[in-house]
Amino acid sequence: MSDQVTVAMSGITKRFGGVHALRGVDLTLRAGEVHALLGENGAGKSTLINILSGVVTDHGGEISIGGQPVRFAGPAAAQAAGIATIHQELDLVPALSVAENLVLGREPRTRLRTLDRRAMARAAQDWLGPLGARIDPRRPVGSLRVGEQQLVEIAKALSLDARVLVMDEPTAALADAEVRRLMSTIRALRERGVAVVYISHRLEEIEHIADRATVLRNGEVAGTLRPDRADRQRIITLMVGRPAEALF
Ligand SMILES: Nc1ncnc2c1ncn2[C@@H]1O[C@H](COP(=O)(O)OP(=O)(O)OP(=O)(O)O)[C@@H](O)[C@H]1O
Ligand SMILES: [Mg+2]
Repeated sequence: MSDQVTVAMSGITKRFGGVHALRGVDLTLRAGEVHALLGENGAGKSTLINILSGVVTDHGGEISIGGQPVRFAGPAAAQAAGIATIHQELDLVPALSVAENLVLGREPRTRLRTLDRRAMARAAQDWLGPLGARIDPRRPVGSLRVGEQQLVEIAKALSLDARVLVMDEPTAALADAEVRRLMSTIRALRERGVAVVYISHRLEEIEHIADRATVLRNGEVAGTLRPDRADRQRIITLMVGRPAEALF
C-alpha cells in the first residue's frame, strides 16, 4: 500500500431537512488501498459515497484529489476526475453486449465509420482479461449473472482510467463463488494502485480484504483502524457506541 493520498474529504456535512446525515466527516483514500466504510443502518455511509461520486452536490466541507480542491457538479464530473462508482443497481444496458457496454459512447469506428467490432472485442479482452474474467464479449449483459455484470462494470471503470472505485455493498447479491472472485478482483485493483472504497455489513469480508476501515456512527467518524479478526469487538463497539458485550 502506498502512502500517497489520492482523495481527501474533510469536514463533510450534509443535512436532509432536520436529519444530520453527516457532520464533519474526514476520509482519506490512498492509492492502492482497500478502505472499508462501516456503520449501522443510517450511519451515513451511502450519503458519504454519494458525495464522493457527485450524486449529492449540496454538502459542506471540502474534497481534494491529488492535493487539488475539487467541486463536483454531478456524477459525470466525478467520473471525469477518476472516481467510478459501482452502485447496487448496475448501470449497464442489458440488451447490449458486454463489448458494446464497455465502449458505450466512445465506440471504435472503422475507416468506413461503421462499428469496429474487432477493436471492440479486443478492448473487451484487454479490460476483462486482467480481472480474470472469462466472459464472452458478444453476450448480452442481461444474460450474465450479477457477479459477471459487476466485473463488466469494474472493467469499464478501469478502461475509463478510474483511480478510485467505490462499491456500495457489492456482495449483497452474490453467491459465495462470486464473492471469492470479487475479492481476487479487488486485490488485482489494489495492485494497479486503484483506491477501493468498500461498503459492507459483513465484518468477515472486511477483515479479509480491507487495509483500513472507517467506522461511521450517527454521521460522524467513530474511528479508523486496520480491521483484524482480533479487533472485531472493538469494531462493533465503535459501530454501536457501547461495548459489544452489552448487546448480548
Ligand atoms: N434522500 C434522503 N432524504 C432524506 N433523508 C435521507 C436521504 N438519504 C439519506 N437520508 C438519511 O440520512 C441518514 C444517513 O443515511 P445513509 O443512507 O447515508 O446511511 P447508510 O449508512 O448508507 O445506511 P444503510 O446501511 O442502511 O445503507 C439516515 O438517517 C437516512 O434516513
Ligand atoms: Mg447505504
